[in-house]
Amino acid sequence: MFRSHTCGELRSSDNSKEVTLAGWVQTVRKFGSITFVDLRDRYGITQLLFSESLNDQLEANPLGREFVLQAIGTVNVRSNKNPNLATGDIELLVTKFTILNKSAVPPFTIQDDTDGGDDLRMKYRYLDLRRPAVKKNLELRYAVGRSTRNYLHENGFIDIETPFLIKSTPEGARDFIVPSRMNEGQFYALPQSPQTFKQLLMVSGYDRYYQIVKCFRDEDLRADRQPEFTQIDCEMCFVEQEDILNTFEGLVKRIFKEVKNIDYSQTVERITWENAMWTYGNDKPDIRFEMKLTNLKFPAHAFATRQDLSNLVGAVNFKVFDEAETVIAFAAPGCSEYSRKQTDELTEWVKRPQIGMKGLVFIKCNADGSFKSSVDKFYSEEKLKAIAQAAQAKAGDLILIVAGPEERTRKAASELRMYMGTLLGLRKADEFKLLWVLDFPLFEYAEEENRWVARHHPFTSPKPADIKTMIENSPVIEHAAEYLKHPYANIKANAYDMVLNGNEIGGGSIRIYQKELQQKMFAALGMDEAEQQHKFGFLLGAFEYGAPPHGGIAFGFDRLCSLLGGSESIRDFIAFPKNNSGRDVMIDAPGKLDAKQLDELHIQLSS
Ligand code: AMO
Repeated sequence: MFRSHTCGELRSSDNSKEVTLAGWVQTVRKFGSITFVDLRDRYGITQLLFSESLNDQLEANPLGREFVLQAIGTVNVRSNKNPNLATGDIELLVTKFTILNKSAVPPFTIQDDTDGGDDLRMKYRYLDLRRPAVKKNLELRYAVGRSTRNYLHENGFIDIETPFLIKSTPEGARDFIVPSRMNEGQFYALPQSPQTFKQLLMVSGYDRYYQIVKCFRDEDLRADRQPEFTQIDCEMCFVEQEDILNTFEGLVKRIFKEVKNIDYSQTVERITWENAMWTYGNDKPDIRFEMKLTNLKFPAHAFATRQDLSNLVGAVNFKVFDEAETVIAFAAPGCSEYSRKQTDELTEWVKRPQIGMKGLVFIKCNADGSFKSSVDKFYSEEKLKAIAQAAQAKAGDLILIVAGPEERTRKAASELRMYMGTLLGLRKADEFKLLWVLDFPLFEYAEEENRWVARHHPFTSPKPADIKTMIENSPVIEHAAEYLKHPYANIKANAYDMVLNGNEIGGGSIRIYQKELQQKMFAALGMDEAEQQHKFGFLLGAFEYGAPPHGGIAFGFDRLCSLLGGSESIRDFIAFPKNNSGRDVMIDAPGKLDAKQLDELHIQLSS
């Protein structure tokens, strides 16, 4: 027997017990003639005490950091207890010890506040994984997975595996490609998601499917993106949007309860895509705080149904606003007394290339009801008051206004709102706010190719009310400049995203299940019949054999875990992640192939 207990287990109630522990040496401290060792395993740390009688043995077999050690001894209640350690009431009086394995000096300290930088920790990830903070993240990940499986099982879902060696799935990223040795000159693609397979399972009658599954996307990486990541992938048949929203609110609430002990009893809020863009400037708003945007000026094509407020900012010869396509304001609560230095800093912030604004206009709504602005030269007190009213600013608020080209300005307003939210401490890591974003546009316009692309993926159904528009109109865009006037621009998708604290954690849709509509969709995306058959013949074929109405969703498992763990970097929640260049620096992948392997695969490199 290597051990009788773990290093996190012993308490004062175990006093005087003979036990055997095994683990890694965290620290060795000599105090006069006695030696203290902190022994660590997955469960915790226990202090070992080596008395003077063991000194000769210790000298002959010196201990070092990360040595694997077995220690036999008696549990002893300590006089000076350590309240920071679960086992801090006791120590082990060692009678015998065995070094099970030695360790080289680790390249960084194995503790939460390690001295190891990112690259070093990734190179020695097996050591990094010993750190309690990383271990906690992986445990959280396991708990989220377990909770998910339990909930889905209880609700009649079954876990069915789908293949990894497939052909291209259109989720909008590039595919990872695998050459086939047995089929010369041919390639598999790794799935960007199991999308078409889960739909085929619906055709086969497995009416509630799920899988916690790897997906592969060759796209530029960010903190919340990895080239291989994991989805909680689900599909159901005989459902409408409402059924899906209810089922998966249930899933997330269950995870909240079981993993974080949070009772999320409030209704999950819903917002249309258009309202999200209008009110928050993006389609995954963080609704932990207000600071809603007010669109003072916007181009005629956009948001046709909204009230035009441009009279508030125009007609005073203020060129910045007069020449701007869009002017957007919001009120930062309680910031009216910002100093010149603070407002200058904010101006610099929006001028950075990532934000790309030329400047920032301020209106201070003073506590006494007066106004002071950076544009007093152009705006009378009365005008400032009218703008403040439109922006729903209160006395004591600071109104921030950005102006410029539509897309950039909307994005800048959204980023600035988030920045101010962080600055004012309104984005608390321990507060969780869920939101459904609904009614996305079905199509996006691809300018370079002058054609439509699917905003979600080509299997997403239009809203029932828009199906007729889609069938009756040709997708051809005659005048590129006026694409927004095309009937397809207004078709809404029967799709939904789930947003948690400003992050998209899941997305899905009700699918097209009629062959004709699916063909119309492919055609709208510019695929002729031959291409449709070549790429998706199997799906169109399946739709001829009794495809039921169906829909589904996929959650970003890594993202959900990282947000529950209070981090925006999913890497911390993946045992062996890739770095920002898509490399695994520990195993040094990707790597080159030797000539023989290339030959077998019938591949010739061009350089
Ligand atoms: P979608 O492409 O929206 O939908 O992906 C679903 C969720 O997966 C997460 N995600 C990622 N996480 C980490 N790294 C990435 N590179 C990455 N890309 C996406 C996001 C996202 O919300 N088949 C459809 C789902 C469906 O229609 O049912 C799909 O894959 O959290």
